[in-house]
Amino acid sequence: MTALQRHSTVFVGGALGVWQVERCDTICGPVLPTVERVAVYEDDVPSAASTGGWVLRGIASYERYVHRAEHEALAARQPVLGRPSSRCAALIPITKSAAWWELTQDERRAILEERSHHIATGLAYLPAVARRLYQAHDLGEPFDFLTWFEFAPEQAQVFAELVERLRATEEWTYVEREVDIRLTR
Ligand code: HEM
Repeated sequence: MTALQRHSTVFVGGALGVWQVERCDTICGPVLPTVERVAVYEDDVPSAASTGGWVLRGIASYERYVHRAEHEALAARQPVLGRPSSRCAALIPITKSAAWWELTQDERRAILEERSHHIATGLAYLPAVARRLYQAHDLGEPFDFLTWFEFAPEQAQVFAELVERLRATEEWTYVEREVDIRLTR
């Protein structure tokens, strides 16, 4: 195992895994092949798991943009992953354009929050939705981010509304690849 892999999370699309794929929609950019199931591994993937399909790796990392008050608000509301009621999940891998990465940190923060209200909007959907963001831009992966969400089946419509609101923001004009994979277990 290399140092790079040590704390990574690996999503394997194929025939195995507890998560069954209900839909796989390419929102923009190149398609990701539709698979039957998604398995999630920490660090190493058992060799038997890599059966065709795709392998996406990311790292749950520190917060880049969050201000202290937002951090506290998130911590107070965000539920843990793996709640028994969370029988639905979404894996939404996203890549942003070179124009995004050429901006400075404060310019990106202004777009993400002051102008697109990503955090404020998202906060309103907690604790219905549990989330984790995996960073992959520096790993040479096909996507910059692997975003993961879990919720109860009766919250699926609420989650759809959240995604629609975010996709309508200025921040999303920088998204050049997005695949929306909906899962159940
Ligand atoms: C469930 C409610 C949500 C909350 C509370 C939330 C909150 C956040 C926060 C706090 C960050 C900044 C992390 C940092 O400081 O590095 C972030 C980043 C991000 N979120 Fe969300 N989010 C939510 C939903 C979503 C959804 C539904 C999507 C995808 C459709 C999404 C995609 C992303 C992406 C791609 C980033 C990385 C942005 C970047 O670093 O350029 N989020 N989110």
